[in-house]
Amino acid sequence: MNEIVQDLERIRSQFLSDLDALQTSKELEDLRIAYLGKKGMLTSVLKGMGKLSKEERPAVGKLANEVRELLNDRLDEVKQRLLDQELEKQLQSEVIDVTIPGIRPPRGAAHPIEQTIDLICRVFVGMGYTIAEGPEVELVANNFDRLNIPASHPSRDEGDTFYITDQVCLRTQTSPVQIRVLEKQEPPIRIVCPGKVYRPDTPDATHSPIFHQIEGLVVDRGVSMSDLVGTLKLFARELFGENTEIRLRPHHFPFTEPSCEVDVTCWKCGGKGCSTCKGEGFVEVLGAGMVHPKVLSGTGIDPEEFSGFAFGIGVERTAMARFNIDDIRNLYENNMRFLMQFK
Ligand code: DAH
Repeated sequence: MNEIVQDLERIRSQFLSDLDALQTSKELEDLRIAYLGKKGMLTSVLKGMGKLSKEERPAVGKLANEVRELLNDRLDEVKQRLLDQELEKQLQSEVIDVTIPGIRPPRGAAHPIEQTIDLICRVFVGMGYTIAEGPEVELVANNFDRLNIPASHPSRDEGDTFYITDQVCLRTQTSPVQIRVLEKQEPPIRIVCPGKVYRPDTPDATHSPIFHQIEGLVVDRGVSMSDLVGTLKLFARELFGENTEIRLRPHHFPFTEPSCEVDVTCWKCGGKGCSTCKGEGFVEVLGAGMVHPKVLSGTGIDPEEFSGFAFGIGVERTAMARFNIDDIRNLYENNMRFLMQFK
């Protein structure tokens, strides 16, 4: 028998036993290449066909075709079986129980300072105020001079204000926003301005070099001190409860005349006197007054025609009161166990 015929027979039986041993579709691909690839066993044998005589060629050619078809057919058939098996295995190993409860992502909460700013602004927006903003890096002129704060005022010392240059500082209060608004807007004006302020204070239980204020400003014809009192009473009751009273103590701020400090009924003892209010029954929460005529005229508003009131609320102080926090530093330490209490 001719050599090629022998090779073909050998390839066929070798292939059939190799096929039996197959485990995976990957092995099957390797097998296909080993027999039918460019350098495969069958391919090499077929290349030798050219040497055959005319007489031999038809019979050997027929056999060669049979072997090739057999290989192809069996490979296709086994491939399908292996793929089915593999898919089945994968489906079983990747079974998902859709009834298992999911992992709940922990829910965050707004910071107590943010919550307090939000609440206070809401109260004033409810009374028709709009929100104004100003820069934290402010002109010394706006932070002091135009608010009628004289050059000799102690708050202007280097130890009490962060200066960037002689003319620029970090604002020590939100009051300079009054100047910016008065300059741009015609009365009637009704704004609140929440924001950060900066003072070179050493942190302790009640001080922080960065803290927050909310400035309020109302300017119109015929605005009086009684409007201020009514407004602040409403604010105090919204924040600290229906039975809250306010108390005005005369004070001095250069940008208001008259000026006052405003206390609210102590939220801890309800006015009887306790350690929080140091026996007073009241706790200070803000400064206020009637806008000084010089502040109005300095921004081009005629104090004969218009009058107004202003106030500055301490946000941290209010937050500490509402949430019963005894050390301001708690508000800045980002301790999750502390913050998660205010959800
Ligand atoms: N700017 C003052 C402060 O930081 C607070 C203040 C007092 C603001 C009276 C005002 C006001 O608008 O009328 O201490």
